[in-house]
Amino acid sequence: HTNAQHQPPRRRAAVPPYQKILKGFEDVRSVLGTSTKLTLAEKILYSHLDDVEESLLENTNNGKNIRGNANLKLKPDRVAMQDASAQMAILQFMTCNLPSTAVPASIHCDHMIVGEKGADTDLPNSIAGNKEVFDFLESAGKKYGMEFWPPGAGIIHQTVLENYAAPGLMMLGTDSHSPNAGGIGAIAIGVGGADAVDALVDAPWELKAPKILGVRLEGKLSGWASPKDVILRLAGLLTVRGGTGSIIEYSGPGVDTLSATGMATICNMGAEVGATTSIFPFSENHIPYLKATGRSSIIDAVKGIAYGNDQYNFLRPDAGCDYDEQVTIDLSTLEPHINGPFTPDLSTPLSKFKDAVEVNKWPKTFGAGLIGSCTNSSFEDMTRAESLVKQAHAAGLRPKADFFITPGSEQVRATLEENATLKSFGDAGGTVLANACGPCIGQWKRTDGVKKGEENAILCSYNRNFPGRNDGNAKTMSFLASPEIVTAMSYAGSTEFNPITDVIPLAGGKEFRFEPPTGTQLPGSGFATGNPDFLPTSAKPDPNVQVVVDPESSRLALLDPFEPYGEGELEGLKVLYKVKGQCTTDTISAAGPWLKYKGHLPNISENTLIGAINAETGETNVAYEADGTKMSIPELAKKWKSQGQQWVVVAEDNYGEGSAREHAALQPRYLGGRIILAKSFARIHQTNLKKQGVIPLTFTNKEDYDKVSANDEIETTGLWDVLQSGGEGKVNLIVTNAGGDKIEIPVEHSLSRGQCGFILAGSALNVLAKKSKP
Ligand code: F3S
Repeated sequence: HTNAQHQPPRRRAAVPPYQKILKGFEDVRSVLGTSTKLTLAEKILYSHLDDVEESLLENTNNGKNIRGNANLKLKPDRVAMQDASAQMAILQFMTCNLPSTAVPASIHCDHMIVGEKGADTDLPNSIAGNKEVFDFLESAGKKYGMEFWPPGAGIIHQTVLENYAAPGLMMLGTDSHSPNAGGIGAIAIGVGGADAVDALVDAPWELKAPKILGVRLEGKLSGWASPKDVILRLAGLLTVRGGTGSIIEYSGPGVDTLSATGMATICNMGAEVGATTSIFPFSENHIPYLKATGRSSIIDAVKGIAYGNDQYNFLRPDAGCDYDEQVTIDLSTLEPHINGPFTPDLSTPLSKFKDAVEVNKWPKTFGAGLIGSCTNSSFEDMTRAESLVKQAHAAGLRPKADFFITPGSEQVRATLEENATLKSFGDAGGTVLANACGPCIGQWKRTDGVKKGEENAILCSYNRNFPGRNDGNAKTMSFLASPEIVTAMSYAGSTEFNPITDVIPLAGGKEFRFEPPTGTQLPGSGFATGNPDFLPTSAKPDPNVQVVVDPESSRLALLDPFEPYGEGELEGLKVLYKVKGQCTTDTISAAGPWLKYKGHLPNISENTLIGAINAETGETNVAYEADGTKMSIPELAKKWKSQGQQWVVVAEDNYGEGSAREHAALQPRYLGGRIILAKSFARIHQTNLKKQGVIPLTFTNKEDYDKVSANDEIETTGLWDVLQSGGEGKVNLIVTNAGGDKIEIPVEHSLSRGQCGFILAGSALNVLAKKSKP
């Protein structure tokens, strides 16, 4: 065999549907008029509207106040899903009985792979432990034509950047760091599985038109400063809530000084300030990246759009467009930053970090330095880190902290292997982990003896550092920095070491000082394909494939469609539980050990509301039958379900806040919940409930919360009319308490015409399934 025979054929590049997108953009221009100045994010987003006129002119003062007001009904170009969240998305998709997905989609096995000893042993172990899930995802991928990237192929966002993301594209990803693709000028939004299903079945996906936060970059990075420091600094400026409801759009002369992968790093971590997504405008530096990743065939199309008709100017913002807020960052004076512990917005410039360690009594040593992940594993990142490793190696030094490297994809890993970069890391005693999430998502088996509950520090180049995020130990202080800073500091193993100014003592009284890192943006002859076993399955659906779900499985269960509404008012409902205080999606469906049941609705439903406080007794997760029998909330819900007793939950303000976890809507529905009656709702959760056929109602007078108790009986009046008229009319509840007294309580519904359809059909998917039946 020659080497050439080992090289599998290049995959055909995924071409964005540019004609369709540009047609959408023409519609936007004709509805808003060419004099309306648009930001880049608006151009791309609005060009993907299902009905431009309806979305942009309703509730917006005829198109003048779109941001924050318009309800965008979007048709994304593609969907990407990671292994943990893909399960429920695909199970829901399957209930629609469609032969294939409506838009191209891909599945990436990355979250369920443990990092411990290194890729060679970790990968087979993780595959063995999750085989039924991977088999399910692969068979579903083949049947419905979703490209399945097997375990080991890479981390979703890196694979998407290398294969699918392109300027002007709009996509959904079932993972919060999907905005990574904004580095190459795509709008990519992280969503829950049910949202992804909207796109997969060609139903419009709804989004309140985001505000646009402008970040102007000036100057040019040099020395130790890296793209990661841009977002570490910005996180400090904006805080973890500063980007909520906004898209972050970068502009300014500094943009063209950054590599495509550097821009991706910045967009990736925009998730940490709560932004809907982040985006960079088209840059010359996108061209060599497209080429190196084997996508020369789309370069002409991209250039045509970027430099074509000036009136449209599709891949750049209009001159003079408005930003809701604007921040400027000067790259020339930007210092490396270290963020943490426990929150990504606690940002300290490197020069002040030693003092911060002192003042806050943070540990003075750290046990592990971890580089790579979806945030920071580009060829540029790794070769810059390598330059430091080589300097230290030449001086005879070895890292004091354990040193781990997570390549983002097989392309990157194989190229780093060819380039001998991995050898440099190996010679330094570093451990190369699988091309997967591993320690970034708690899938890290530490072997350094740090016990659970023991305070300690680690340094990583990842994006999140909430307690327990990396090793499941809530006392581990995880500090975020660039791969360069993590690498250099690992040689000192000290949080007080500043690699720019400090020296490491050598034998014989000599001293070692790091020179600033240097690296290469892209491999000279493009990326290597690597192991052909890691290539994806075909995008062509195969109806003959059987989707594999073992009926005995504890982790996967096929979904039965929920029952349709029936007719008339709801009667004989009972209050299962009256919740006191905050009730987040985590209260309703806890994460942690429950995550392994994400694909098994009956099993994960065992955690329903287990964090909820009983308003009448102050106990958590203790529910009572009318006769005083005491049990957990899921136990009572299951008992009532088996008796055909449907139920209501009563709650206070902002019910369902927190991450947009669809299980928090699916589980109550599965267990027989029909109405959630709250003082107010978190918007996304309210929508999720309606999608699953649960009716969210709010008290017209909040004090009526005090008039309802657990075990009260509830009957609706007016609801049937509302449902039949598509949302017109008022609803009241007749509440019968334990003593038999009846009161009438006025409530508010927020059901649109379409959502009344969801409730009547039993769920949004039932509506779609009906449409798709021959
Ligand atoms: Fe995976 Fe961590 Fe990225 S979990 S997708 S590597 S943020």
